[in-house]
Amino acid sequence: MREFLLYSRTGYTTPNFSTLLDGGRLDVVYQSILMSIFKAQAHRHDVIFHTVLNGPKNPPLHIQINGNELRDARIDEASWNIIIKEILKGKMHIGINVDKKSLQEIIKEKDADGYNIFALNSKGRSIDKLEISDKMLFIIGDYIGIPKKDEQFILRFGNKLSLGKNKYLAASCIDIINYEIDKRLSNQDNTEILQNQQY
Ligand SMILES: C[S@@+](CC[C@H](N)C(=O)[O-])C[C@H]1O[C@@H](n2cnc3c(N)ncnc32)[C@H](O)[C@@H]1O
Repeated sequence: MREFLLYSRTGYTTPNFSTLLDGGRLDVVYQSILMSIFKAQAHRHDVIFHTVLNGPKNPPLHIQINGNELRDARIDEASWNIIIKEILKGKMHIGINVDKKSLQEIIKEKDADGYNIFALNSKGRSIDKLEISDKMLFIIGDYIGIPKKDEQFILRFGNKLSLGKNKYLAASCIDIINYEIDKRLSNQDNTEILQNQQY
């Protein structure tokens, strides 16, 4: 599985907001969902998106969206405003799970399950050197960034990964990672086809 975790410092954990922007920048969560789960006319079935919301009134709240299971979700912001509000009211949506796990609990679980864990940071190791595996978790900061003490915790279990010197939006980082991994997997497939054709 390819998994993304957006650490949201301010995202509301109650449905008392009008726009996602007003809900402690839940618009960043929406944009990150879009880039994680959706391709043109299809879901990414091998991707799980997580966010840990740390805004008022009842943090932390962990929302997990499974690309393989998600149904009845369009790609526009208005639809996700409704979905996120309903989830925060305690209602169910197919493909979405909610619990009270903290960032630390999720990381410990993923580490025990054999995941390679990466904290996105422009000063990390270049994505060009990323070794692709079946179990990868990428942790991205929101518009403020990952708090230092949380990044230090992540680095007990994983490494910093850089997309270059430019600072990108959280959702852009997810898009770039998906693109890079898609490209490499597709090159691998093409090489295998060519090798098989030689016999
Ligand atoms: C909009 S940026 C956060 C900006 C924040 N002021 C900072 O300096 O960290 C959102 C997140 O994207 C990730 N990010 C942005 N640019 C990156 C890059 N070039 N390489 C790796 N991660 C990056 C980081 O995890 C960052 O916390």
